[in-house]
Amino acid sequence: MKFLLGLFLFSVLLTTGASIECEICKGVNNCTSERQICPEEYYACSSSLLENSKVKDVYMAKECAHPEICLFGVITMTDGNGSHIRQVATCCEEYACNPAAPILPERNTRANGKICPGCSSNKGDCSAAVTECIGSETYCVSYVTLSEKNVVIGSRKGCIREGTCTHLKTFDGGIFHDVNHVKNVQCTPAVAATTSSSPPPPLSFPLPFGFLLLALLLMKLLL
Ligand SMILES: *[C@@H]1O[C@H](CO)[C@@H](O)[C@H](O)[C@H]1NC(C)=O
Ligand SMILES: *[C@@H]1O[C@H](CO)[C@@H](O)[C@H](O)[C@H]1NC(C)=O
Repeated sequence: MKFLLGLFLFSVLLTTGASIECEICKGVNNCTSERQICPEEYYACSSSLLENSKVKDVYMAKECAHPEICLFGVITMTDGNGSHIRQVATCCEEYACNPAAPILPERNTRANGKICPGCSSNKGDCSAAVTECIGSETYCVSYVTLSEKNVVIGSRKGCIREGTCTHLKTFDGGIFHDVNHVKNVQCTPAVAATTSSSPPPPLSFPLPFGFLLLALLLMKLLL
């Protein structure tokens, strides 16, 4: 519904040649700014919170956006053993509107027994470490971020929810407050972490074999 409304407004704006205006700012927990005119391809104002375990503070960004960023709900990724990144965004699509305050729910910190390669880099490819997945993250994701000129800027690998990964494959935009578009998204089911490899029970193979020998011996004796 909202999407249709967005499309409708978008077409109205296109035909009238007007663009919407949004606050564009970034700050710790909250930010505010004068409104600026958005580029025509962006027809929503978004307000989003970003939590990154590698950064002390939660950041808010307000920007001109494609409303699809709001269809994800909370994007949560464990992008290294013990490190994670999360984002939630709200959007509004009317002229000079104010998006609702986004809220990041408390993070589930329970390991779910699955593992993925995890890493992140804003300088090209990253080398992954075995990463324990958390909560409902049952898929492994890998993606790169590309500049407008299709140059690889960064990369991220880690545990993610299946639905988020599927959605990312068709998403043409940036996440985690990164303007560079997410590309080459790969989604694979996370594998179970192997419990400390216990040797097979010592008698499982020799036992029937032993009985066979005994039986043969008895037959020999009886004949
Ligand atoms: C953020 O700042 C604006 C402007 O000062 C204020 O109106 C709004 O209530 C604040 N939002 C939150 C969630 O603190
Ligand atoms: C991940 O980190 C936890 C907590 O530090 C540690 O217990 C666990 O062994 C680590 N797992 C891997 C696969 O390195």
